[in-house]
Amino acid sequence: MTAPVNVTVTGAAGQIGYALLFRIASGAMLGPDTPVRLKLLEIPQAVKAAEGTAMELDDCAFPLLAGIDVDDDAARAFDGTNVALLVGARPRGPGMERGDLLEANGGIFGPQGRAINDHAADDVRVLVVGNPANTNALIAAAHAPDVPAARFTAMTRLDHNRALSQVAHKAGVPVAQVRRLAIWGNHSATQYPDLFHAEVAGAPADALTADTAWLTQEFVPTVAKRGAAIIDARGASSAASAANAAIDHVHDWVLGTPEGDWTSAGVVSRGEYGVPEGLVCSFPVTSSDGEWHVVEGLEIDDLSRGLIDASVAELEAERTAVRELGLV
Ligand code: NAI
Repeated sequence: MTAPVNVTVTGAAGQIGYALLFRIASGAMLGPDTPVRLKLLEIPQAVKAAEGTAMELDDCAFPLLAGIDVDDDAARAFDGTNVALLVGARPRGPGMERGDLLEANGGIFGPQGRAINDHAADDVRVLVVGNPANTNALIAAAHAPDVPAARFTAMTRLDHNRALSQVAHKAGVPVAQVRRLAIWGNHSATQYPDLFHAEVAGAPADALTADTAWLTQEFVPTVAKRGAAIIDARGASSAASAANAAIDHVHDWVLGTPEGDWTSAGVVSRGEYGVPEGLVCSFPVTSSDGEWHVVEGLEIDDLSRGLIDASVAELEAERTAVRELGLV
């Protein structure tokens, strides 16, 4: 058997952590031949709860689970880590302004970025789930100068999966027959789910893109506001689907995307499609040999261009704010 892959999960005692850890340990993320060692990072007050989750993980007797460490120290939790899932974040409290939120999260993602820089394995791959995910990834990357920036990514796979399902329902086809969707921009209400290159049952999604009213007034807002709709219905946020998306993101990053299809991920812009360099922006991406590649050469229509630009402008404003706070 191969050596275990070290997987660090922050916010391990939280809702997403509880939905995520068991699936990682089962092999859903890295495949059925790869043993994993889980390293759980929590704040001191939540270490006991994370230890409870570790007890349950033990009780599953997962054949691929090579060990579990629980810690409140980032240096130890990221020591030798190959895959880091940064889930723990500071939520927006009542009356909290955007600047306060960014500053509070800077206090988490800056030190965690530095700990990854100093202690993680050379091949470390980082997925930021905790919101505001794109800018938290930017902050973490800025504190890890020795790690290639491309190893820091933000999760928009949940938005991608939500969009796939909406299209499948609308077109009346199984979700597996919907391909080449793209989420552009920020993981926020400004994100743009793009159907203009999508295929439904092997044909262009022309019938859907021609229905501008459905596209702009139903599809885009339903995907963008799905998180709020889940909270309203369930009385709790979307934890299992978020965990599932994190599994999908890392699975495809490490093991590759299927031939002929692509997915969406927040990756560091190299200026593709006019997105300013250095922003962590969601693009259509493929993965091969453990690296994300932005799908290039897509023609962007005027409607899409305006919506992409609006979301990118929000990312730029967030970057300006964290620069002014000295966080990047
Ligand atoms: P939660 O509140 O249930 O759990 C968060 C956990 O993080 C808590 O156990 C807390 O103790 C821990 N934590 C806080 N600061 C930490 C630190 N410095 N180090 C380690 N752990 C720390 O929240 P939940 O539902 O698990 O969500 C986590 C994050 O994921 C939130 O920011 C949420 O907005 C975000 N999210 C992102 C999605 C995406 O698509 N990118 C989708 C859904 C949620």
